[in-house]
Amino acid sequence: MKREAYFPEVVKQALSNIPPGSWMSAVPEGCIRLNSGYPAANLVPSTELKEATDRLLTEEQDLPLHYIGSPRIDQLKTQLIERMNERKMEVQEDEVLVTSGACQAIDLIARILLDENAFIIVESPTYMEALEIFQNYTKNIITIPIDADGLDTKQLEGILIERTKKEEPLPKLLYTIPTFQNPTGTTLSFARREKLIKLAKEYDFLILEDDAYGELAFGESPTTLKSLDEEDRVFYVGSLSKIVAPGMRIGWIAAHSEWIEALFWFKKDLEHPFAQSVMSAYLEKVNLAHRSVLLTEKYEEKAVILYEALIHFMPEGVKWYRPEGGYFMWIEVPGVDTTAMLAKAKKAGVAYVPGQYFFLHQDEGKSFLRLSFSYASKEEIKKGIEILSHVVAEEINK
Ligand SMILES: Cc1ncc(COP(=O)(O)O)c(C=O)c1O
Repeated sequence: MKREAYFPEVVKQALSNIPPGSWMSAVPEGCIRLNSGYPAANLVPSTELKEATDRLLTEEQDLPLHYIGSPRIDQLKTQLIERMNERKMEVQEDEVLVTSGACQAIDLIARILLDENAFIIVESPTYMEALEIFQNYTKNIITIPIDADGLDTKQLEGILIERTKKEEPLPKLLYTIPTFQNPTGTTLSFARREKLIKLAKEYDFLILEDDAYGELAFGESPTTLKSLDEEDRVFYVGSLSKIVAPGMRIGWIAAHSEWIEALFWFKKDLEHPFAQSVMSAYLEKVNLAHRSVLLTEKYEEKAVILYEALIHFMPEGVKWYRPEGGYFMWIEVPGVDTTAMLAKAKKAGVAYVPGQYFFLHQDEGKSFLRLSFSYASKEEIKKGIEILSHVVAEEINK
């Protein structure tokens, strides 16, 4: 049987891309994990989630274990809306859809907007799972570089002008992580946020704002694109993975009710009602605003340790941005192939994610690597950077 023949063209095309998750290499026992974009183990609220589960099942018995049943599923939506309102994003009940994590949200948005003829714009570099998702729908991906102030809106405008002049198709959707970006840790400046919204109006495209790290601001929280959006062009995507627990897979989309209706069409009941009920019970006792303050204090301490260790140990020529929140730092090691270097680094005792996976054109990422300060302990971060710096120095001097 020729199984391949059964696949439609778009699926054949998707299957020819690099397999999902190839960026997640095996990490030997004892190796310091500066690759993992996970919350720190001691910051995952397992005791509180256990208490919430007990309370939920005591109060509701079997109800949350059915397809639909627990009133806490609706309550979760209300809790998320309340938090969005606190963050100056005015949304109503019919403008929110709870999903199985931000990734399902991104996939659903791609599903209702993209076909093989559609054009999409992404940042370069960008979140590799989002790239994987978009590549499942279209080959027409336009990349715009990032600098210290986030997405380069001047280049974006240049491309839009050029495409209009040449009568080439304009993008339908732009995907951005404006706040504490994965992988660069950069944040889109306020002026660029305003410019981006203006360009979206002018060139008639929609914006997918992925705010997975938005609650983790070391200083003031940047204004979201959603709160600047007067024409309902923004699909805001949130996640509780980075501030509560990724295994719960709780994310959501906030967008105009007509978009939400279309998204619901395809999401149907493909979700985890039990996880949603537990999360809602957990949020009855935990104030998200307070929790995000507590988390950012902890993550900022780690970010400072990583930053100072880089200054102290890294050889000259290596470059990075100072993050203002989130989980990551992005390092440039000019002239070094970070994919090839990874085996040596792991052997020496430290793991990172090679830059290539965050680029559509992987060659562009060869001399970059992503470090995460969220998961490893402070001692491990310092030690890890000391080890990595030796490996980098060896490569530079080769
Ligand atoms: C930018 C970005 N968006 C979304 C996600 C995934 O979120 P979720 O676990 O809610 O699917 C991540 C996780 O690493 C991320 O970095």
